[in-house]
Amino acid sequence: MPDTVQFHVRGAIAEAVIDNPPVNATSASVRQGLAEAIRRSEADPAVRALVIRCAGKTFIAGADIKEFGKPLVEPGLPDVIAMMDRATKPIIAAVHGTVLGGGFEVALACHYRIASPEAKFGFPEVKLGIVPGAGGTQRTPRLAGLATTIRLTTEGGQIGTASAFAEGLIDAIADGELAAAALAYAEGLVAEGKGPRSAGSLPMPADDPALFEEARRTLSRKMRGQSAPLKILEAIRLGYEMDFGAALVRELEMCRESIAGPQSKALRYLFAAEREVARITDLPADTATRPIDRVGVIGLGVMGRGIVMAVASAGLPVIAVGLDQAHVEAAMKAITRMWASSVAKGSLTQEAMDKRLALITTSDDPRDLAATQLVIEAVTEDLAVKKAVFATLGQATQPGTILASNTSFLNIDALAEASGRAEDVCGMHFFNPAHVMRLLENVRAAKTDPEVVATIMALGRRIGKLPVLSGVCDGFIVNRMLSKRSREAFFLVEEGADPALIDKVLLSFGFPMGPFALGDLAGLDVQAAARKARAASATERELRADFVEQMVAQGRLGQKTGSGWYLYDENRKASPNPQTGAMIAAHAERHGLTLRGIGEEEIRERLLYAMVNEGAKLLGEGIAPRPQEIDIAMVNGLGWPSHTGGPMHWADQIGLEKVLAKIERFRAEQGDAYWTPAPLLARYATEDRGFAA
Ligand code: 3HC
Repeated sequence: MPDTVQFHVRGAIAEAVIDNPPVNATSASVRQGLAEAIRRSEADPAVRALVIRCAGKTFIAGADIKEFGKPLVEPGLPDVIAMMDRATKPIIAAVHGTVLGGGFEVALACHYRIASPEAKFGFPEVKLGIVPGAGGTQRTPRLAGLATTIRLTTEGGQIGTASAFAEGLIDAIADGELAAAALAYAEGLVAEGKGPRSAGSLPMPADDPALFEEARRTLSRKMRGQSAPLKILEAIRLGYEMDFGAALVRELEMCRESIAGPQSKALRYLFAAEREVARITDLPADTATRPIDRVGVIGLGVMGRGIVMAVASAGLPVIAVGLDQAHVEAAMKAITRMWASSVAKGSLTQEAMDKRLALITTSDDPRDLAATQLVIEAVTEDLAVKKAVFATLGQATQPGTILASNTSFLNIDALAEASGRAEDVCGMHFFNPAHVMRLLENVRAAKTDPEVVATIMALGRRIGKLPVLSGVCDGFIVNRMLSKRSREAFFLVEEGADPALIDKVLLSFGFPMGPFALGDLAGLDVQAAARKARAASATERELRADFVEQMVAQGRLGQKTGSGWYLYDENRKASPNPQTGAMIAAHAERHGLTLRGIGEEEIRERLLYAMVNEGAKLLGEGIAPRPQEIDIAMVNGLGWPSHTGGPMHWADQIGLEKVLAKIERFRAEQGDAYWTPAPLLARYATEDRGFAA
């Protein structure tokens, strides 16, 4: 037996115990061990049943992603599963932890399943751009019906043991320790004379085939641009068109095709990148973290409230400090209202809401923050105001208390100096709504202590965020890159591109919405304020493209006033706004500009290459430590489509030489001020390498 699988026989029951940390993936040695265990159990006349279970924190969490793209080492998982189908003695899966992907498929191929009460089941393959390849699309519908199968396999979510039992996906729930319960369960089966059974011998469910069409429509909208969800639907349908064995063969082919495709490559890259950004290259893994058992939030506007909610939702006590009692009361009312609406919708229990509220204490006196070990500042986005707050915090809190600013573009080094305790100061830039958005840009300033960096990275994960480390610059990673896209979007409009076409181009690329629909949603007054705050560093041409200011002057603030780039009805459904075309024509005339027709390719490349070039600058300047930080930030902060892997991975796939050639063309047409290639991009292009080597 290989090291990763142990085999032993206890009376009439054989046991194969997989031990392949960290997540018991079905690596080659596990597949070999399982095959050998089935052979031995079949060959030993004393054995009447085989239990398969796992050591460690989880049952098999899937195929070994690290083996993808490499030559297959026999036997493949489907070969092992075929052995289970042929077995003459019952095989029982005893599962705990996260029973995912290929692990779920192994369990479903076993003849009986017993689970510990806290187990979770799912098919996350879709999130890796993969069609399940070991029978998941064929066995699940036969056991749980079409609707459940479609939901589990195309959305990639998880269900708990109770639901899995109710859906018919497992046969028993372990009472007490799993290994002992499984042994007793197997002995019971043997005593009852129960033999092997395969889900494959059951008929496909007689569910309404209209479910396929309905799902196709929903997925085309919700997971726009992604190929795996629709391929998975196709794979499920195979069960109705051919026999079980033939459907398995085709499912496996589809699985292999999906693994070889660019979308899965991009999604697997992001899976690894998400784990990679937790490891800070120049921060030793054993860097001490400071204990945090109470967090302070100062400034209770929209961002401050969201941060209070995020912290309390994670079970951490928080002191919320507002400008005065009126602000504090308004904030607590708003927070209570938001949670109450979750309770009304059923996504939060009243008990959980009460617990969260009980974790929040309020004050209008910054001195109360002395009882915290971390304060997150979210006051108004004004350097002078923030500096004053940091000076106060430097005095009001204990030395060693971390002082983090939620600023989205102000200079954190200046705030650090103002505090008098620069080594304790950093940025924690949340995205709106802060209690929902996963991305957190943690910012290391010039003098930030390494312990502070380690602490805010760990704290970010503790409150359920995806923290990415950035250096200090105007806008950090996401907003700095986004500002280049906004610039190009306005320039394109000035040159003659229809804003609706620009939105459509980004929508078809896979963004959830284009820049103009986004502007209308966020509020054009908010966008105008942001442009004003940056006016000092804007070029004449950027200031001239003042469409947002023109609309604000007319009272057109976007969705909230029913008119912006688009018109909105009472349900906020958008339609073309004739005033927009008129505004653009008048703007052109006023400034003597000639409008031209602009094709979709130029629109896409100008919007996206502008961001890639800025990303390359961030890397060159060391603001973003690695391309992974940028890709994770842009996918999770801006909605850059994950199936393209984020801007830097996407550019790598196109080839930096090609990207550079286009940037040079835009430079010739648009000027050095906007399109000078990032030195790093130019260098990598000549070295024929990508950002990720
Ligand atoms: N293969 C290889 N390595 C894996 C893996 C897998 N399927 N799943 C997780 N790992 C690795 C991670 O890369 C990480 O390695 P690192 O420490 O070197 O960064 C380590 O295991 C721990 O993972 P997490 O940090 O994610 O640990 P958590 O405890 O937070 O989460 C988990 C555990 C829920 C299992 C999570 O890792 C996960 O969701 N994994 C992916 C599961 C998955 O996608 N399975 C389907 C694979 S495709 C498949 O099965 C095809 C089939 O149909 C044939």
